[in-house]
Formats: sequence, structure tokens, C-alpha cells
Amino acid sequence: MVTSMSRPLLEISNLNAYYGKSHVLQGVDLRVNSGELVVVVGRNGMGKTTLLRSVLGLPPVWRKGAIVFNGQETVKKLTHETAAMGIGYVPQGRLLFPSLTVDEHLQFAYRNKKKNSQWTPDAVYELFPELKQRARVSGARLSGGEQQMLAIGRALVTNPILLMMDEPSEGLSGLVTQRVEQTCRHLISQGMTILLVEQNLEVAQALAHRAYVFYNGRVAYEASGDIFRKDRETVGNYLGI
Ligand SMILES: Nc1ncnc2c1ncn2[C@@H]1O[C@H](COP(=O)(O)OP(=O)(O)O)[C@@H](O)[C@H]1O
Ligand SMILES: [Mg+2]
Repeated sequence: MVTSMSRPLLEISNLNAYYGKSHVLQGVDLRVNSGELVVVVGRNGMGKTTLLRSVLGLPPVWRKGAIVFNGQETVKKLTHETAAMGIGYVPQGRLLFPSLTVDEHLQFAYRNKKKNSQWTPDAVYELFPELKQRARVSGARLSGGEQQMLAIGRALVTNPILLMMDEPSEGLSGLVTQRVEQTCRHLISQGMTILLVEQNLEVAQALAHRAYVFYNGRVAYEASGDIFRKDRETVGNYLGI
């Protein structure tokens, strides 16, 4: 059976990434099919954030290889051109503006979008009602969980077809982590495609349709979600747990 699940939305081949002379990603092959939630796990410093930055060509990373998104080669494109093709990015550490309010973050990210798009600031407030109550509060005064919801909302209002999230559960309580996990499930049920870097192995195992383990800038292990959930020992060895 051919389903939309088997159509590659993002296909990365022989990706090499550098910071100056430092050769961080060394020949990475990775695929995200339409409708999938693909997780990337690995210890600190293994190149997970560099992978996401490479997809968008975010400086100072310099990349070489093939990155085909939605049928188009993107390696020669500028960051904003690739993002405008439909990639939403939730960076590690949220990276909000301390002095902008919740609503200003959402309106600013939404500013150039067509008014009939699915994800408006109001739609984000429906997804995260607690953010609506905090609409006039500045980024600096939000709790970690509220910051993470806002970082996700800010990516959603760009109306992406691929959402890349970098360690969204980092520094959050178990309860808020569950909320992030539910949000991922909800978005997938609505047809979103997600590339998730996640250091919390339980969350990664709970969500993965497919998984990659990074080790020293390479893909050390790749499996379907079901096999990834069973291979605790192998995966644990790579993660040092
Ligand atoms: N801006 C940068 N300049 C130079 N080296 C960097 C930079 N960012 C990350 N690195 C290095 O690249 C490697 C991979 O980092 P990163 O992709 O952040 O790993 P991860 O997200 O898996 O923790 C590490 O050795 C890190 O020190
Ligand atoms: Mg990282």
C-alpha cells in the first residue's frame, strides 16, 4: 500500500557540517517521511543541534551534501528561503525575546502569513489556553513550560509543513514534559510532520515512528519506532545510560 507516510518530505544525503575547520557532521543520511515523527537522540555534543541548524543553513554552520525538502534541493538556498518553504524551528533553549510579550512574539512571527492560514495566534491560544492568559506578559517573566509553549506557538504561526524541535522537554517538570508530548501527538494527528531532537529517552521512545541515534557526528543506529523501543540496551550504550 502506498500511503503519504512513505513519501519523503525531508531527505538528507551525505551531509557534512563544519564550524570553521571543525568537521562536526560526517556523512549523515536521514529521512523524514510526510506525517512521521522522527526522533534523534544522542549524548551532548554529538551533533543533533548542528543537524537542525544545517537543514536551515543557520550560521555559523557551513554544510555540504544534499538536503531535499518537499522535492527541492535546499543546500544553495538562504536560511529564510528554506524556512519559507515550510520549516518551523523550535530552537534548543527556546531563544525568546525577554522584553517582548507573548502576543508580540506570535504577531511578529505571523506578520507575513496569509490571513486564511491554519495557525493564527488565536489558534495557538486555543492549543495552549494558559498562553492566552499570559498574552501581555514578557518572555522573561514566563515559566519554563510557558516559554516552551510560546516557542512552539511561534514556530506554528509560520504555518510549517515540517516542525523541527530541539530538546523541547529540557529543564521542564514531568508534568510539563507530558504536555509537550501530548502536543506532539496532537500535531501529528492533525497531519504535521515532526523532526524531534529529544534527550529524554522515555519521551523519545513514546513518540518515535522512526529513530536515529547520533554518535560523534554520524548516524550510529537507525530503526523503526517498534525496534527502537525494544533495543534499550543498544540505545542505552550509545547514550551512556
Ligand atoms: N557555534 C559553534 N562553533 C564551534 N563549534 C560548535 C558550535 N556549536 C556546536 N559546536 C560543536 O559541535 C559539536 C556538536 O554540537 P551540537 O550539534 O550542539 O551537539 P548536540 O546538540 O548533540 O549536543 C560539539 O563538539 C560542539 O562543541
Ligand atoms: Mg543540542
